[in-house]
Order: sequence, then C-alpha cells, then structure tokens
Amino acid sequence: MAIQTVGVVGCGLMGSGIAQVCAEAGHQVVVREVSDDLLRQGLGKIESFLKKGVEKEKVTPERMTEVLGRLQGTTDLGRLSSCDIVIEAVVESLDAKREVYQTLDKACPAHTIFASNTSSLSITEMAAVTKRGDRFVGLHFFNPVPLMKLVEVVRSPLTSPESFEKAFEFAQGLGKSPIRAADKTGFIVNRLLVPYLLDAIRALEEGVGSIEDIDKGMQLGCAHPMGPLTLLDFVGLDTTYSIANIMFDEFREKRFAPPPLLKRMVQAGLSGRKTGRGFYDYSKEPPKPMAGLS
Ligand SMILES: NC(=O)c1ccc[n+]([C@@H]2O[C@H](COP(=O)([O-])OP(=O)(O)OC[C@H]3O[C@@H](n4cnc5c(N)ncnc54)[C@H](O)[C@@H]3O)[C@@H](O)[C@H]2O)c1
Repeated sequence: MAIQTVGVVGCGLMGSGIAQVCAEAGHQVVVREVSDDLLRQGLGKIESFLKKGVEKEKVTPERMTEVLGRLQGTTDLGRLSSCDIVIEAVVESLDAKREVYQTLDKACPAHTIFASNTSSLSITEMAAVTKRGDRFVGLHFFNPVPLMKLVEVVRSPLTSPESFEKAFEFAQGLGKSPIRAADKTGFIVNRLLVPYLLDAIRALEEGVGSIEDIDKGMQLGCAHPMGPLTLLDFVGLDTTYSIANIMFDEFREKRFAPPPLLKRMVQAGLSGRKTGRGFYDYSKEPPKPMAGLS
C-alpha cells in the first residue's frame, strides 16, 4: 500500500518543516501539537514561509492555498489514526517520545509506519516500546527542512527490509536525497558534525578567537556556508545540548561532552535564533555577537 496520509507529531522548528514538505509533495497531513497556541504558531511558520515564496514569485498564490489546504492541525494524538506513516518530531527527550509512541501504537492500524526525526536517540529503544518494531525507522531531516535535500533513513535491528525501503522511497517522493544509516547514535552526519560544533564552543571558551573570528575562519578558510557558532544558533543550543549528552552517554568520549559554556547558555535561555539570542543577538540587524560569553 502506497503512503498517502502523513501524521506529524510536533510542529516546532522541524515538525513544521516536515509537515510542509509532505503537503507540498501531495500528501494529506495531520499535525499534532500539545496546545492550540503552539499549533497556531507552528502552522503560522508554514504559512509565512509560503507567503515569502509568493512575495519572491517562487510560489503562486494558488499553489500556496493548495498546500495549506492539505494541512490539518490537531491537539488530539488519536486524530493520527488514519495515517499511513507518522513522523515524530517532538523535543529530544526519550521519555517524551516513548509516551507518544505508546499512545500512537494503540491508536494506529497495523500498516502504519512510525518514523522518528530524532538526531541522537536510539531508534531501537523507541521501537521497543511498540509492537511494531519491524515497521519503525528513523527519518532524520535537516534544518531548514524545505531547503535541505538530505534525509538519513535509519534502520534498527528490528526494522524489516520492506518498511525500510518504503520509508526510503517515501523520502525520495518528497524530493529529498536519502542516505542509509544504521542505528548508532548521531547516525552519519551528527557523528561527524557534533564534535566539530562542540570544539568551536571550546575554542571560544579557551579564548582561541572571538565569536566572529571563529565563524569567519571556517567560512573563509574551509568554504563552509556559515560558521559553527552561527550554525549552532540555527540548530538550537538546547537541542544541541541534549544531543551532546546523549552521544556522550553512548560513546563516553570527551569529543561528545557538552562544554560548560553550552550548559550555561541553555540555563540562561540563550538557545539561539528561536529565543532571539544565542552566540548572536538577533534583535539587531545584522545580528551582533553576544558580549560576555568568553
Ligand atoms: N533543530 C534541528 O536542527 C534538528 C535537526 C534534525 C533533527 N532534529 C530533531 O527534531 C526533533 C524536534 O526538534 P526541534 O528542533 O523541532 O525542536 P522544537 O523545540 O523546535 O520543537 C519541538 C516541538 O515538539 C512539541 N512537543 C513536545 N511534546 C509533544 C507531544 N507529545 N506531542 C506533540 N508535540 C509535542 C513542542 O511543543 C515543540 O513545539 C528532536 O528530536 C531533534 O533532535 C532537530
């Protein structure tokens, strides 16, 4: 049976992007948030992304109406019971995700595939709380989802080859370029990226360079499209902190350990772009490096 209807759990940074690309690819999408307010905010992000496309004449007003017409919001997880695949993009917490999967497992029919967008948690551990380990995969999208081509499709030891291929083809159908990865925390990209980002924070802590110079160094010296501290602000420092803790817990290697400065910034609510301040202050245009971090 081909995948037609899609459920998305969580309409934050990633969930809103995932819901958008699924609707753009022609799927009917039901997206769940925990409150009406957060749902409005999440769906608002999709609308403003599409509106900007209309302003830039990349999207027609008719296309925007068509895409938005395929999206339905809900706060009731049970409404996802009609979906062929459910993609979960809630906060990076195993407890929160487990709770979602236990409820969904009871609500969804046998054929529904579950896919987690987790960056670092174990797909196997989440699959184990359901009775459908063979129909459970990782679908790891990248931020911003409508623009980034990559999706890591992750198999656990329980995932059946049929479900894996179905999920892989589904990602291709969204216009993405999927790659295959095994369920080792961080998969391929974060395994390599996270130690680099954490090292950039350590370089700042140790006074190797300023925020601007660390970013400029990697942009101009290595032709990266943005520096590591700017990238951290995009990803979200709270999310990065959770990912680093999970990866450190798994590998027990110093390169994955979150530096104290990252922890302090998360405690202070400096989570990056989504909170208005991180390594840069986004209330200014252009954003200014934050004072007092090194
Ligand atoms: N931020 C990134 O660049 C990035 C990239 C790839 C993957 N991820 C992964 O995607 C997931 C979400 O990250 P994010 O950056 O979108 O976080 P976010 O904080 O922007 O969004 C998470 C959303 O989940 C909602 N939520 C929490 N519990 C819920 C529940 N039970 N039901 C429905 N919604 C619920 C929250 O209200 C919030 O809006 C995490 O697992 C993260 O590791 C993040």
